[in-house]
Amino acid sequence: MTKGMRRKGLVEMKKIAIWATLLLFLVAVSIGTYLLLGLRDVTKAYPQEAALFVPELIDSREADQKIELVIREGRHAFFEGIESPTRGFNYDFLGPTIRLYTDDTTQIRFVNDIGEPTTVHGHGLLVDGELDGGPQSEILPGTTHVVSLPIVQEAGTSWYHPHLMGKTADHVHEGLAGLYLIEDQNSLSLPLPRDYGVNDLPLIVQDRTFVDGKMQPYKPGSEDLLDGLREETLIVNGTVNAYHEVPTGWVRLRLLNASNARFYRFFFTEEETFYKIATEGGFLERPIALNEITMAPGERNEIMIDLSDGDDLSLMAEFLPADPDDALWFFSNPVQSVVRLQVDPVRRSDAGLPDKLNTIVRLDEEDLKTAVRRTINLDMDEADDGGPISADNAFSINGEAMDMAIINERVKRGDLELWTVTGDMMPHPFHVHGVSFQILTHNGEETAMEDRGWKDTLVISEEPSQILMRFNHVASQDFPYMYHCHIFEHEDAGMMGQFTVTD
Ligand code: C2O
Ligand code: CU
Ligand code: CU
Repeated sequence: MTKGMRRKGLVEMKKIAIWATLLLFLVAVSIGTYLLLGLRDVTKAYPQEAALFVPELIDSREADQKIELVIREGRHAFFEGIESPTRGFNYDFLGPTIRLYTDDTTQIRFVNDIGEPTTVHGHGLLVDGELDGGPQSEILPGTTHVVSLPIVQEAGTSWYHPHLMGKTADHVHEGLAGLYLIEDQNSLSLPLPRDYGVNDLPLIVQDRTFVDGKMQPYKPGSEDLLDGLREETLIVNGTVNAYHEVPTGWVRLRLLNASNARFYRFFFTEEETFYKIATEGGFLERPIALNEITMAPGERNEIMIDLSDGDDLSLMAEFLPADPDDALWFFSNPVQSVVRLQVDPVRRSDAGLPDKLNTIVRLDEEDLKTAVRRTINLDMDEADDGGPISADNAFSINGEAMDMAIINERVKRGDLELWTVTGDMMPHPFHVHGVSFQILTHNGEETAMEDRGWKDTLVISEEPSQILMRFNHVASQDFPYMYHCHIFEHEDAGMMGQFTVTD
């Protein structure tokens, strides 16, 4: 070995040592940050359980088909004795659950008491554009907006929330959201749990940031505007770390992901099997046995769980990262409890799980050749102006950022429509107003026959998804329908388009 070679060897070793130290340091810093931020299980930071808040049920028939919802300022205590400024419908946070019936017409009076314009959209309601509550249907402060909603769709779980151009994310974040439960002859004749708040539970899942027990107001940073705002603490119906007492037997959970941007994977402790019975637009034909279910913003699923053995179970949520490829390989995602179902052995739910729930007429058995085809791409891979991407320049659909003066698509009422939808960069929950659609292919893959329920929101990736639908209601130039990404930050930044439906 020459002197030179030895020196070279030493230099190499030094290099390796420096790199190893650097790597160790990085790992240590990551673990430290991770533990400090307590990302693993934030519920541990809030050991105190709270009784699940169940929004009041307003039954449209008992209310003589006249319901008033006051959009108002509130103060909600997410933690005992600590109030946060919030907004709600009639309430401090969120709004009552409204039960509607197929073939009824219900009048709803929206009173705007928040001192700024907003709108109230019925997400999942199949009504004309004029009644849809889109960005055109502004309710000015101090005024009342009255809609008479003719319900013609089948039983299902829909919801209401503001849809003002550029303000949707903020208004929903403050607390403006609530549920519509639609019942029809089929749902009323099935032996399903239907005792609201007892064995039929609404679960509105959101994520928020708390500092000293106070909910932090909506202030997204530039990163949040790109990825969508994802926060640290799960709330369900405005409750942190909830429990709810339920009877033994079957319990039905109506899950709504009303988060601004967060996707969750839901599962029960002990990996307990549960049954999915309904998607956004109605019941599946038969229940599907599952151990987990992933839900994006805007999506609803009804699930049933059998608690006959009397043991408590917790519904858990894994917080999924904005881009699944972003997951830190050396850590698992944070997991928090949604609700602990505490079984009361004395009370029994005598409801059951029927094996036939619905009959769904398949649109794909019709002549696809005559379907009107459209392709939609949710754009965010580059800035329109060539500069670095930001919320101001990166979001559009088919190259066109949402512009209230532009009608992007024109649909003829009654036509069979086949839309092929793709999206850039990350998964986007794509939502269409005024319709329930059927999935032909999802992210490039054929959808299992039994899993083809009626939907209005679907997670889109770079691989194409094909949805089939028929619009049966009208939406004029003045009150068009929207299609958009249901990550509210993306929607507000322009990942939205408008279409009319005319004869
Ligand atoms: Cu839930 Cu157009 O929205
Ligand atoms: Cu909607
Ligand atoms: Cu998006």
